Amino acid sequence: MDRLDWTRPNWRCDAEPTHIAPDEPLVYDDAVRAETNHLYERVKDVILPDEWPVHAPLIAAINRLKKERGAIILAHNYMTPEIFACVGDLSGDSLALARMAASVDEDIIVQAGVHFMAETAKIMSPEKTVLIPDMRAGCSLAESITGADVAAIKAKYPDYPIVTYVNTSAAVKAEADVCCTSGNAVQVTEWAAREWKTDTVILIPDEFLAKNVAANTDIRILTWKGACEVHERFTAEDVDALREGHPGVVVLTHPESPEDVVKAADYTGSTAGMAAFVKNTQPEKVVLLTECSMSDNVAIENPGVKFVRPCNLCPHMKRITLQNIYDALRYNRFEIEVDESVAERARRSIQRMLDLPKPDSPGQFDKDRPPVEVGLV
Ligand code: 13P
Ligand code: SF4
Repeated sequence: MDRLDWTRPNWRCDAEPTHIAPDEPLVYDDAVRAETNHLYERVKDVILPDEWPVHAPLIAAINRLKKERGAIILAHNYMTPEIFACVGDLSGDSLALARMAASVDEDIIVQAGVHFMAETAKIMSPEKTVLIPDMRAGCSLAESITGADVAAIKAKYPDYPIVTYVNTSAAVKAEADVCCTSGNAVQVTEWAAREWKTDTVILIPDEFLAKNVAANTDIRILTWKGACEVHERFTAEDVDALREGHPGVVVLTHPESPEDVVKAADYTGSTAGMAAFVKNTQPEKVVLLTECSMSDNVAIENPGVKFVRPCNLCPHMKRITLQNIYDALRYNRFEIEVDESVAERARRSIQRMLDLPKPDSPGQFDKDRPPVEVGLV
């Protein structure tokens, strides 16, 4: 069984997992058709009829295996729709997934998401088996900083609290004081400033999230030069071109995007915030300037809304497939392990975030607040 090597501060696995041929035939026969027809009804607007026979046997097998093994699949909003809507049991943004991981009953959690999400699940539910279908599912933000970097920041700025984005390794969370996600970054930053009785908070490692938070609070922010490779590539010119090409389109973006993109958009929030915005406002035409699968998943719930589709793929999220979820459940791979001395300190950072009052609705970034200078640590 492959295991996480926790001794490396920023673990990365480049080895391609070997595919094991299934020991049961996975074919689209009458039984599978009957077992999965109701699921195709759910996704028929985003998955072509010709593609369904490829997905359906794996979907049926995964849903059977989950029951047999007492497993649950947590699916991030960026999973492809055949995963998100057909085998995912619980889904949401990073904050929701962290909450769910801390409270599920099942003994096995399969994380349909990236490595830091699976690690967070293991830290919050250490007694459970947490599986990630492909250990290579990383994140450019998590790769940008190590636990040793955070320890050095702490030594340099002993009086300022360190807030780390949840998109980081366990070692980084262990060195930080508290975690945040895109859904609560302003709330956590203001809490940390109050608790540490300071006007300055260190918010790492996403430079753009830090700038967007800085514009939405009076707290002074210092940050790190990390970025999400999906969201950093959107530009304000992209937004202008979309408005010109699709008059009336409502533009939604994520706070990992540059601040001029946020300024040009109509709404900025976490992936759960974007989904809620579309559901509550039912715009005629919308563009979600984020990872590509998000539009498909939100479209499933909002058949009356037209989606304009420019997007950027996250190569890490796209590592997760039906095939490797099936392999994960069948062959109990790949198991996440976090050394308890690291996990204990990382858990404190995550738990502090989870203990904050749960807002009624996902946090929205105000595009009309003026930009603020943000220093680097
Ligand atoms: P949220 O789903 O928390 O908004 O995060 C988006 C993201 O990029 C996760 O990797
Ligand atoms: Fe990381 Fe960005 Fe991919 Fe999310 S979308 S996993 S932040 S690279």
